[in-house]
Amino acid sequence: MNYLAVLGRQPEISLAELESLFDEVEQKSREIAFFKTELGIVPSLDRLGGSLKLARKLEKNISPEEYLKSLPEGKITLGLSDYTHAKYSSRDIKNISQNGIKIKKALKESGRSLRLLPNTTPVISTAAAHHNGLGRSPRKVELIKYQNDWFVSLGAQNITAYKERDQARPMRDAKVGMLPPKLAQILINLCGNLDQNSTVLDPFCGTGVVLQEALLMGYNVYGTDKDERMVEYTKKNLAWLSEKHQLNQEIMVEQGDATTHKWKQPIGAVASEIYLGPPMSTPPADIKLKTVKQECGAVLTDFLKNLKAEISPDTPITLAIPAWRRLDGHFERLKTVDEIEKLGYNVINKSRDGLLYARENQVVAREIIVLRKK
Ligand SMILES: C[S@@+](CC[C@H](N)C(=O)[O-])C[C@H]1O[C@@H](n2cnc3c(N)ncnc32)[C@H](O)[C@@H]1O
Repeated sequence: MNYLAVLGRQPEISLAELESLFDEVEQKSREIAFFKTELGIVPSLDRLGGSLKLARKLEKNISPEEYLKSLPEGKITLGLSDYTHAKYSSRDIKNISQNGIKIKKALKESGRSLRLLPNTTPVISTAAAHHNGLGRSPRKVELIKYQNDWFVSLGAQNITAYKERDQARPMRDAKVGMLPPKLAQILINLCGNLDQNSTVLDPFCGTGVVLQEALLMGYNVYGTDKDERMVEYTKKNLAWLSEKHQLNQEIMVEQGDATTHKWKQPIGAVASEIYLGPPMSTPPADIKLKTVKQECGAVLTDFLKNLKAEISPDTPITLAIPAWRRLDGHFERLKTVDEIEKLGYNVINKSRDGLLYARENQVVAREIIVLRKK
C-alpha cells in the first residue's frame, strides 16, 4: 500500500522516523514523503511523532468525486489540500477552491450534501484538519493532492491529545526538562519495528515521558533513575496513564545509577533522554561549557560502558544527548562519532547533522543518536 506523509518542522527527523519503520521512503519535497507498508499494515499517525498528516493513495482510476460518493450515507465534511507547490501563488488557491466547487456540484447532482472547508491557502492547516476531525471518521474527509496523485487522509496530528498527555499528568518537573511527547515517540520509533511484547528501557527516566509513550504504543516499560524522587514521579505518572487508558502492560520502575546499574532482562530496546546538564537561557561562556560538557560526557561514557554488558548486539539504542548553542549559532556536540565508537558501539546515523532537535533560540538542544553494540 502507498502512503503520503506530511513531514514536521524538522523534516530530517520526520524522515529518519519513517525510514526506521516503513519501506521505500522517498522524500518528494521539503514537506512531503511517500512510503510503503507491507500488505495489511495500516500505519497509525498517533504513533508517529514527526509527521503532521498521513494519507493513503486513492486506488488508480478512482476520482475524488467517486471516492466521496462511495462513503456511507449522510452529510460529508471535506477539506482539500494541494501540497504540490511548497511556495504557492494566489492561482494555486483559486485552483484548489475551484476543484472544491466542482466536487461539491458533482456530489449535489448525485443527491449527496457536502460541507466544504474554505481554502485560505492551498492546504488545510494541521490544526484545522485536526479540529474538524478530518480523516478520523468515515464522512470527515481530507483529500490531499500531490502532483497528479490523490490521497485520502488518515488524520492530522492530534494536538489536543499531546497537550493533554504533557500537561495533565500528575507529576511534572521543570528542572529535569520537558521532553515533548512527540520527541519521545520519535526516540522509540528510531529503535525500529519492535516485537509487540518488547520491553523498552529508559535508564534516565525522569518523570517518565518516554515510558509513557512506549506504554501507549503497547510495549512493556522499564525505567530507572538515580534520583528517588524521579522514580516516584514516574511511578505515579505511569499509574495515572495506565488507569486512564486501561493499559495492562508490565511496568517496572526502580532507583538506579545508569553508570553502574544492573538491569533485569529481557531488554528489547533502549530509548532515553540522558542527563542534559543545567537548563540555560543564553549561550554559555567557554569555561562553563567545558565544565558542563565534561560532566555530561562522563555520564554518557560511563553509562555506555555499563550498558554494554547488559544488552545484546542487536538491541536498538536511541538516545537524546545534549548539544549547546554557541554565540555564533553553531552547536557544540557532546561527543564525536569516533569517541562514541571507541566505547564499543556503532553509530547508525553517522551523518548526524539533521538529527538535532532544537526549537528556535533554545540553548540546550537534543542530538539524537542511534547506536548498536559492536
Ligand atoms: C533530562 S532528564 C530525563 C527526562 C526523561 N527522559 C523524561 O522522560 O522525563 C535526565 C534524568 O537523568 C537523571 N540522571 C542524571 N544522572 C543519572 C545517572 N547517572 N543515572 C541515572 N539517572 C541519572 C536525572 O535524575 C534526570 O531525571
